Amino acid sequence: MSSISYKSAWKSPSNIALVKYWGKKGMQLPANPSISFTLDNALSDTSVEAIASESQSGISVELYFESQRNEAFEVKIKGFLEKALSAFPWLNNHHLLINSTNTFPHSSGIASSASAFSALALCLCSIDEQMKGISDPAFFEKASHWARIGSGSACRSVYGGFNLWGQTTALNGSSDEYAVNIDDIIHPVFKTFKDTILIIEKGKKAVSSTAGHALLNAHPFADIRYASGFKNTELLLEVLESGDLDKFIQIVESEALMLHALMMTSPTPFILMKPHTLSVIEKIWDFRNQTGLHLLFTLDAGANVHLLNPESENDRVQEFVKNELVGYCQNGLYLCNAVGNGPIKTH
Ligand code: PMV
Repeated sequence: MSSISYKSAWKSPSNIALVKYWGKKGMQLPANPSISFTLDNALSDTSVEAIASESQSGISVELYFESQRNEAFEVKIKGFLEKALSAFPWLNNHHLLINSTNTFPHSSGIASSASAFSALALCLCSIDEQMKGISDPAFFEKASHWARIGSGSACRSVYGGFNLWGQTTALNGSSDEYAVNIDDIIHPVFKTFKDTILIIEKGKKAVSSTAGHALLNAHPFADIRYASGFKNTELLLEVLESGDLDKFIQIVESEALMLHALMMTSPTPFILMKPHTLSVIEKIWDFRNQTGLHLLFTLDAGANVHLLNPESENDRVQEFVKNELVGYCQNGLYLCNAVGNGPIKTH
């Protein structure tokens, strides 16, 4: 007799933060609000099968990443699933078979936790609906909530377009618990924005984002940072609505450099930028001065540089990348992305 099983599969993207989440409180709640847009080309493709197993006690998970059993990921995911038991009690008597692949090169240094945990949370919520036989009107909020428990920034990946996570008086309905979509206020110039990710350095980061967040707890500038994060969220919401590209550049680049300045000034200082990161930033500033085009950069918690620009200026920017920036990329690798439409359910 074959066991009863439920299956779901989602393709879910990564996102790039414009106002950064760096520092947390309580149960993975952000110390300040953040705003991101979802990418169109950097996805995790994840399927989850929940196989009924009455004899099971506790969580049981088998995970294949890029077709290879991955025990390190199993441990991480098990820790996450323990926390999710309150919402998905069936995890105690269903064996989970998880298969996941990424569309972006493995260990390219692109944050994969956002796409991975958003895809996994969406699969869990879909299986939960199948088991209950009802559709949940708050499906995406719930998925965002559980994605957040896996990795904070993942909560902004369950929707397409532009998303805000964290409670702020500047936006009704905003919450620390889950992200909300803000596409209804976005000026058309931003809706087709491009993000070309220059891979300056592949591979594992010297300091994990978990450790990085923790360093904010005893950081001399933590309160100033959080106040700036709140202020920049307010300012960026206005700019995203008005379409003011010059102010957009000012806020987004300042957020990126502040993130790295916090790393350099933490009680245990560290530097994730590399010499090529700085060379690229200088090149971008020169290019902008010479051309008057609206090319800007942002950085994640790593050495790679995200080049952002309006679609209308993309031909000139891509020419600049090929002629002047590709030499700073490891093995000449860069990834072309744009604002994406969000996750897709494939099963
Ligand atoms: O989601 P985490 O814990 O990996 O933190 C992400 C932090 C940044 O990528 C640096 C900023 C952000 O808001 O995405």
